[in-house]
Amino acid sequence: MGVKSDYRFRHRHIFGMEQLSEPDIQHVIATARSFREISARSIKKVPTLRGKTIVNLFFEPSTRTRTSFEIAAKRMSADTFNIAASTSSATKGETLVDTARNIEAMSPDIIVVRHSCSGAPQLLARHIAASIINAGDGAHEHPSQGLLDIMTILDHKKELAGLKIAIIGDIAHSRVAVSDIIGFSKLGAKVCVAGPATFIPAAVERLGARVCHAVEDAIDGADVVMALRIQKERQNDPLIPSLREYATYFGVNRRRLEQAKPDVLVMHPGPINRGVELSPDVADGASSVILEQVRNGVAVRMALLYLVMGGEKSDDGQGGV
Ligand code: NCD
Repeated sequence: MGVKSDYRFRHRHIFGMEQLSEPDIQHVIATARSFREISARSIKKVPTLRGKTIVNLFFEPSTRTRTSFEIAAKRMSADTFNIAASTSSATKGETLVDTARNIEAMSPDIIVVRHSCSGAPQLLARHIAASIINAGDGAHEHPSQGLLDIMTILDHKKELAGLKIAIIGDIAHSRVAVSDIIGFSKLGAKVCVAGPATFIPAAVERLGARVCHAVEDAIDGADVVMALRIQKERQNDPLIPSLREYATYFGVNRRRLEQAKPDVLVMHPGPINRGVELSPDVADGASSVILEQVRNGVAVRMALLYLVMGGEKSDDGQGGV
């Protein structure tokens, strides 16, 4: 995988793809691949993180990501606690830092946080001793999604270098888009984004993507087509006239997909609005690797939990995988 033998993963916190070098990304994926097999065993548990306490602190709704982090932690034998914003004191006015300090008093080793404000994970890391993993902060980053997307592509393609990857949809409000563009570009892919003009931020080219005005141009000759959900919760006013119109002009359907390479991979971070960003036959079709993304998500999160803990084995000598 091109990672030198004197290489060490040095990150105690995972805030975004921005902080990860290409060897870091390759190392997370190699580690995730070594853990993936655990999920196929009849007894899906190793003692690697026994005695560690992991808190999932989610201030925004989540099904996939929260469950995936929880399953990952449990498969490594860590103790996990879920704190959802609607049941936490945040609804009573407690600040994020106060909530975190109270959780800190319970001595967690890792806090996995999702928050609607960009930068919330860094804020937590400044105030508490636990390792922080960003599970999505506003429209900023979603690094575990970026990593699982790279892993899924690498399961099918030899390398990302030279691939054309189209990302279609609500780029402006999507933390997945940011993490994917940064990660894909670091590994040498050419990323083209397309969507309604109101969904394409001016700064996207600085992240390494090229803007295509028509969805057809982005999909033309693409090796990977990633569709993104419209992030209604991050828009004050609707930025598109209607979902129906969006589906007509930007939805990824069979006709549009014919312009991609024959072995194109269709991806989506979920949750999908069927019939809006992806037509159902494409979402469930032979090119779709959407459920592989979910499967790889557990392995990537196991790898991240393990690596931020310094890649230590448990003290009983049975810590390996
Ligand atoms: C994404 C998110 O929350 O940013 N979902 C996810 O983590 N699987 C994308 C989305 O909500 O559309």
